[in-house]
Amino acid sequence: MLTAIIGGTGLYEFIEDSKKQIVKTPYKTAEIFRGKVNNKEIIFLNRHGKNHEIPPHKINFRANIFALHKLQVERIIGVSSVGVINEKIGLENLIVINDFFDLTRDLTFHDKKAVHVDMTEPYCSELNEIILNVCRENGIDACIGSYACTKGPRLETPLEIKILKKLGCDVVGMTSVPEAVLSREMGICYSTIAVPGNYAAGIKGKLNASVIKKETEDKVIKLKEILPEIIKKIPDERKCPCREALLDAEL
Ligand code: HPA
Repeated sequence: MLTAIIGGTGLYEFIEDSKKQIVKTPYKTAEIFRGKVNNKEIIFLNRHGKNHEIPPHKINFRANIFALHKLQVERIIGVSSVGVINEKIGLENLIVINDFFDLTRDLTFHDKKAVHVDMTEPYCSELNEIILNVCRENGIDACIGSYACTKGPRLETPLEIKILKKLGCDVVGMTSVPEAVLSREMGICYSTIAVPGNYAAGIKGKLNASVIKKETEDKVIKLKEILPEIIKKIPDERKCPCREALLDAEL
């Protein structure tokens, strides 16, 4: 039972004394780090690179998820910075994502045949439950929410955010959906912990990258403290249906 953490803005390293490994995939290589947390083997993948040199639209999502599949990872927790659309959600909250609206629409492992994975429950409910419980047990404000995914790298316009709000989106970000879809296509459980960096465009004045980074990093410090506890609580056996995603998906 192997779990991977995909780090985003603010989470550039996670496991101490980890070993770097370059994994070959049909989509070029992916760089991962292997180590132990709470005596469990863990893989860490830094989606933006060590110095945040890989912007969202240049992330090789297919190489990343294929590499984790090749290493027999069964569960992935992705950490993603987001803009908050739903003003009932405070910037201090963490948001565990349970549904998404996709504005990227271009990633699959199946370009040569029609494979339609079921997305009725797009994120792993078993993993989501564990994350929410650990947050609550540790006094961290966390809620469930829906994610609008843009391709980036630009931020949204106020009109885009108004429309996304009307469509029922709670937060907006640039990375969760390709990872959720590709993980599902591989039968890997996937959860996103969304970390607010700002209120989305048009809600509270102009946005700038340094404020978004600082606000995200402040909360990632808290998140890093509970990630080992989350990992500890993940059972060896999966009881969710995620691994069966491909059983009846091909036309
Ligand atoms: N929009 C999209 N992605 C983001 C934002 C945002 O406002 N903040 C952090 N990631």
